[in-house]
Amino acid sequence: MVNTSELDIRSTISNNRLKGLWNLMAGYRWQYLAANLALGGSALSKTFTYLLLRYFVDDVLTPGVYRLVPLVAAGFVALAVFEGSMTFASGALASRSAEGIARRLRNYLYDHIQHLPFSFHAGTSTGELIERCTSDVDAVRRFFADQAVNVGRVVLLFIINFTALYSLNGKLALTSIIVVPFVVASAIYFFKRINTAYEKYQEQEAVLSTTVQENLTGVRVVKAYARQDFEIGKFETVNETKYRKGRHLMMQHALFWPISDIFCGMQILAGTYMGARMVMANTLSLGSFLAYGGLIVWLIFPLRTLGRMIVQMSTGLVSYSRVAKIIQEDREDLEAGSSPQAGIQGDIQFENVSFQYEVGSPILGDVSFSCSAGQAIALLGSTGSGKTSLVNLLPRFYEVNSGTILLDGKPLPEYSKGFLRSQIGIVEQEPFLFSRTIRENITYGLNRSVSDEEVYQAARSAAIHDVILSFPHGYDTLVGEKGVTLSGGQKQRVTIARTLLKDPRILILDDSTSSVDLETEAVIRSALENLMRGRTTFIIAHRIQTIMTADLILVFDKGAIIQRGTHEQLVAQDGMYQKIYHLQTSIETELEKEVKRARI
Ligand SMILES: Nc1ncnc2c1ncn2[C@@H]1O[C@H](COP(=O)(O)OP(=O)(O)O)[C@@H](O)[C@H]1O
Ligand SMILES: [Mg+2]
Repeated sequence: MVNTSELDIRSTISNNRLKGLWNLMAGYRWQYLAANLALGGSALSKTFTYLLLRYFVDDVLTPGVYRLVPLVAAGFVALAVFEGSMTFASGALASRSAEGIARRLRNYLYDHIQHLPFSFHAGTSTGELIERCTSDVDAVRRFFADQAVNVGRVVLLFIINFTALYSLNGKLALTSIIVVPFVVASAIYFFKRINTAYEKYQEQEAVLSTTVQENLTGVRVVKAYARQDFEIGKFETVNETKYRKGRHLMMQHALFWPISDIFCGMQILAGTYMGARMVMANTLSLGSFLAYGGLIVWLIFPLRTLGRMIVQMSTGLVSYSRVAKIIQEDREDLEAGSSPQAGIQGDIQFENVSFQYEVGSPILGDVSFSCSAGQAIALLGSTGSGKTSLVNLLPRFYEVNSGTILLDGKPLPEYSKGFLRSQIGIVEQEPFLFSRTIRENITYGLNRSVSDEEVYQAARSAAIHDVILSFPHGYDTLVGEKGVTLSGGQKQRVTIARTLLKDPRILILDDSTSSVDLETEAVIRSALENLMRGRTTFIIAHRIQTIMTADLILVFDKGAIIQRGTHEQLVAQDGMYQKIYHLQTSIETELEKEVKRARI
């Protein structure tokens, strides 16, 4: 397990972005102090180089004290070496700390996203999340690696060099900083503009990642429908928008530079001109003037950098907000509630349950029914009638809006979500396998060690054991991109084996057989029968044959139960069920006739 407990990042989030970033530095502040001190050391040695130059010109060369020359030369070398090592030390400290902070943030973010509720994931695109975990965290890292130390460096350089200048000549020093407010004002102006431009740019980048991600995930569909040109066109449009937003962003940076450079250049020119006049008027020594020439550059340079820092900081700040927004999302509490040691029986009762995702568009209205442990409940109804929504209420992926669901006579919210989910097994319409070995896929999520025999047993019941043995590495065969490709029916049987091992009291089969062919369906159906034995099962299917043995069949239309009963009862009733039944059986008899005719 990654250690994310070192800092509860959620509690450090602040709407004041600088404060939030300061909080993120927790545990690394000493390193930053040391990095800044090292920079101070390097700035000082640079300044002393110029002061030494003044001493050399005014006090060594002019009076001709030549025996001091080697000493002064050694001084220059020592200062250069010291300056270099200090710069290196601060860079190393800052980048190591920045990596550490970014790593901690990334880990926390990943951990946090795992704990966000279903509704968050349903409403956020994958591309957007990937973007925030990678590109945005990286912008925050750059903030700590570059800007956080450079601000210290800039301020130190400015203070030290200004003091040195002031010691040379007060009047000259004061006239050398007239430009400061102009540079700062233009930096602030561009900071705001870049903030907005970068925000838009990042948003567009997320759109681009989503487009790529969707295209790659759906590559089969794209190829099957020969939609490559359309997809390429779509990508180009999105990419073009990103290009334009990126160009606008770069334009802001590009405009800021020459403007601040003009200010800085004019300042150096004016200062040098004034200094030269003072030398001619004999109010300034030649050595001082030479030192001034060096120092003014190192006074204006940090000022220019400060502007750049302010402007670049906006990227870090915008990305910080984007990351902070996710961190501020509430986690799902998996612990609150009871987790009965004895487990559960599996009696379920829906009492006037109503549910909606968004206010104003009800999905389920006033649903009531009950079943006892071990029974099978079938849900039948057109697409969009709310079947999946209903079963998603059981593991509390979503909460009911009114009414109650009782499990063993107790309302669902009394059980902890973690416990409920450990008691419920779901076989979905689209089976999902990880790019790991088959064995790892079957034993996924089990908190106990299982023997090979147990795994084989589950696979046998799921009618997949022989198939697995036929693979080159048996149970150690990798699934997915780098391994074997399983057919839809095979994947489904692997997930059934997984669910068998989980051994849940309640089982949800959501359209588990709809995407496989008839022959595979027969195999899967027998595997499912093995799985259903002794468990309360909710089975959603379109084929009557799959559900006719259920203890209770509920026919749904627009989120309400319009018919209920056993197969025999419902077939005898005039209604939707009878209609579907006749339709399906007549199609099947037709098919059989066709087959017979073809054989003759
Ligand atoms: N996460 C969601 N957010 C908002 N609406 C949803 C969400 N999931 C499903 N719906 C809507 O709820 C309705 C019922 O969907 P669903 O329960 O999936 O039906 P079924 O499984 O019967 O096909 C549909 O109109 C669907 O658009
Ligand atoms: Mg569904």
